[in-house]
Amino acid sequence: MYILGISAFYHDSAACLLRDGVVVAAAQEERFTRVKNDAQFPAAAIRFCLATAGIQLREVAHVVFYEKPFLKFERLLETYVAFAPRGLASFWRAMPLWLKDKLFQKKIISRELQKLDAAWVASADSLLFTDHHQAHAASAFYPSPFEAAVVLTIDGVGEWTTTAVATGAGNTLTTHREIRFPHSLGLLYSAFTYYLGFKVNCDEYKVMGLAPYGQPTYVATIYAHLLDVKADGSFRLDMKYFDYCTGLTMTNAHFAALFGQPVRQPGTALTAFHLDVACSIQRVTEEVLLLLTRQLRHEFALDDLCLAGGVALNCVANGRLLRESGFRRLWVQPAAGDAGGALGAALAVHYQYLGRARTPGSPARDAMQQALLGPAYSRAEVRAALQQAGLSFEELGNADFYRVVAEQLAQGKAVGYFQGRMEFGPRALGARSILADARRADMQAVLNQKIKFRESFRPFAPAVLEEFAQEYFDLDAPSPYMLLVAPVRAAHRTRPAALPGLAQIHQIRSSIPAATHVDYSARVQTVNAHDNPGFHALLRAFYDQTGVPVLLNTSFNVMDEPIVCSPADAIACFNWSGLDVLAIENCLVRKPGAVAPGPVAPSPA
Ligand SMILES: [Fe+2]
Repeated sequence: MYILGISAFYHDSAACLLRDGVVVAAAQEERFTRVKNDAQFPAAAIRFCLATAGIQLREVAHVVFYEKPFLKFERLLETYVAFAPRGLASFWRAMPLWLKDKLFQKKIISRELQKLDAAWVASADSLLFTDHHQAHAASAFYPSPFEAAVVLTIDGVGEWTTTAVATGAGNTLTTHREIRFPHSLGLLYSAFTYYLGFKVNCDEYKVMGLAPYGQPTYVATIYAHLLDVKADGSFRLDMKYFDYCTGLTMTNAHFAALFGQPVRQPGTALTAFHLDVACSIQRVTEEVLLLLTRQLRHEFALDDLCLAGGVALNCVANGRLLRESGFRRLWVQPAAGDAGGALGAALAVHYQYLGRARTPGSPARDAMQQALLGPAYSRAEVRAALQQAGLSFEELGNADFYRVVAEQLAQGKAVGYFQGRMEFGPRALGARSILADARRADMQAVLNQKIKFRESFRPFAPAVLEEFAQEYFDLDAPSPYMLLVAPVRAAHRTRPAALPGLAQIHQIRSSIPAATHVDYSARVQTVNAHDNPGFHALLRAFYDQTGVPVLLNTSFNVMDEPIVCSPADAIACFNWSGLDVLAIENCLVRKPGAVAPGPVAPSPA
């Protein structure tokens, strides 16, 4: 029996198909349309899901949308009424759109589905709707390896809810309490993202990446004026400082006056002030999450914690929750943002609506299949794409392929790496990745300037052989989805001279400097042979040649582009970026005139 989950119309549209409760396929629409964070109805993603299963839409028992449009409309209407007449301008701007598109979402979804298959019929049973946070909670708990767990979902806002506490046991999910709009930790973080001149709902991770360069100078200001937090972690915002209820911006003049500077214009210099603001909001977010989760650990007699919602992509906070919340284990849905709502909505129908039994796998194994749920391409398709692009390539057997790619990496080449099914969720995990040698201090600058074309303050992530993870990082849990930040172990650290702010960027501070942040932290991906044999074999080949079981792993895209999906996307990115090598399935393309690599960092004693 098939269930199709859909998220759409806000940001990060996606589709996910279940067959008897098992994920057959899941992907974000942006990967097909090449429009970053595409919010349109995910027609291409649905077509991909159906093609993977070899079925037509009419064979799907239930299509489920990840939120309830009427509740969301009610929230907007009530918010405008509550803040009238201040919100009148944005009310008049938003309402025509809502009346035309959103209020009639059920009709629009039905119409779009019928375009995909004229024989599909809308009915009370064929088209269902879940709550937004119900979808997040289902995506956090049902695929987790836990029989029972506390489930915390935190985001900007769904219909009304911004934070929800539930417990999961077997196939049940019980909501205990929630915090409602406008009081939102996600919107608070987004307000600071806006204030710091970055894109809301998109660039929050840049604020997180900037935070370690600053000092937590404004933590007291945030608590004193913006955020009232109770001992149990529940919170309220003082709406005097925010404009997201009534205006078209996140923060207002009171907010700017409180911090003493106007909103940073995108592209202008990041000063010590901006670094300190980023550091402060990151610190506050971590502290609130710790209060919340410690309370939940105390309140419910459960050892394990599941997280989803956009705030759960804050992997620095996740690392602290794992170390300091008191929960024994932590599982975070890799597609924690709204794209994962498609998956959660489908799972909610399977377990809650249909009441199917749930048997979690072994304690070490979740049901996400390493998030490798997107499209794959055959060797023949890859060969045809390379030939069509006029690229000469060599095709190698597995062992030779891994050995040669590892050699190229060890020589300092930047490799576009394209293998098997594309990842679902925002992280590249070795299927659509750019890989490089993390030992080289200049690699961060090389990748940022010549390949990613982006700001240079953000660190890259290390992928490490799971069996060596503890030798390099203070991390006693697997992190297959790159959702935990952990400190680099002292034995691998070096101490550069103290420099202020962004001057620290290119200093060498470990044996893997290109993947070590200024605070000696790293966003770790652990790779094991059972779950990810191909990527493990490559890391192993690199280890055999260099003695270092770590590679730098970043997403295969350039700034402001979605991650590549097809061979043609990968070839286009390879051709016009500074990538040296394209390793696509078992084919290898080398670009002439590759960059001269810098030296490798010394190994620790
Ligand atoms: Fe959400």
